[in-house]
Amino acid sequence: MRLDGKVAMVTGSAGQLGRRFCHALAAEGAMVWVTDLNKEACQAVVADLPGAHHPLALDVADPDSVQVGMQEIDRVSGHLDILINNAGIAVFEPFEERRFEDFMRVLQVNTGGTFLCIQQASRLMRQRATQGSIINVGSIYGVVSSDPRIYTDCNRMNSECYSASKAGVIMLTRYFAVHLAPYGIRVNCISPGGVFNQQGADFVNNYSRGVPLARMGSEQDLSGAMLFLAGAESSYMTGQNLIIDGGRLAW
Ligand SMILES: NC(=O)c1ccc[n+]([C@@H]2O[C@H](COP(=O)([O-])OP(=O)(O)OC[C@H]3O[C@@H](n4cnc5c(N)ncnc54)[C@H](O)[C@@H]3O)[C@@H](O)[C@H]2O)c1
Repeated sequence: MRLDGKVAMVTGSAGQLGRRFCHALAAEGAMVWVTDLNKEACQAVVADLPGAHHPLALDVADPDSVQVGMQEIDRVSGHLDILINNAGIAVFEPFEERRFEDFMRVLQVNTGGTFLCIQQASRLMRQRATQGSIINVGSIYGVVSSDPRIYTDCNRMNSECYSASKAGVIMLTRYFAVHLAPYGIRVNCISPGGVFNQQGADFVNNYSRGVPLARMGSEQDLSGAMLFLAGAESSYMTGQNLIIDGGRLAW
């Protein structure tokens, strides 16, 4: 049990990747705060986890919600060792049709939410002198543009605002790695490539042709890197963005 005695918080826990991250952390002995917009959805995730964990409604884009949530973690657990900034949203229309409020909302949740959670979590970690590990979830589309030619049977185009928001997450990682290093708090990022989630066959084939390992990712592909960054094995790593994409960005 690599994470015995550690307290972890995962945002966006009810989603495809968040749920898996909660399972991986719990399996390594961490006590997990399972947070998402809807408390019932969090309770459903908790019900499936080994051990005792806490469901918590928390909106990463609302400063009050993040602050109240962090106070609750402090009150019940007394400290926080691991924060996984996983909550995220996307929009899919062609950019010509984008409403500005939708553009800003994606930045607010993905980049702003990551900022708010780091701000509050690092305050708690510093107060309790915890040598914490913060792990942001970026995306390959925070590093390169998506290829519009692959969406042949699929109207869920990756958006400019999603890419900008994830580039922001990767940069927040470097900024906070530097500014929290004096307190022994590490900040890293994992950037997944496309994860299979019932996309159409055409899209899956098009996408996979661009991947040296010739397939989309799965939730299971990401947990190992997340656990590595959460635990002591990565104690000399901070400010890094681990790209987990089957080699997609290697050619
Ligand atoms: N699935 C992929 O292919 C992929 C690839 C690269 C990066 N990512 C990133 O991984 C993360 C998880 O993605 P996923 O595929 O599991 O998505 P998902 O939509 O399945 O889950 C996202 C979760 O975030 C929650 N959420 C949305 N807004 C929130 C808010 N304001 N406050 C708190 N929670 C909120 C949702 O309720 C949902 O449960 C996201 O940051 C996403 O951008 C996903």
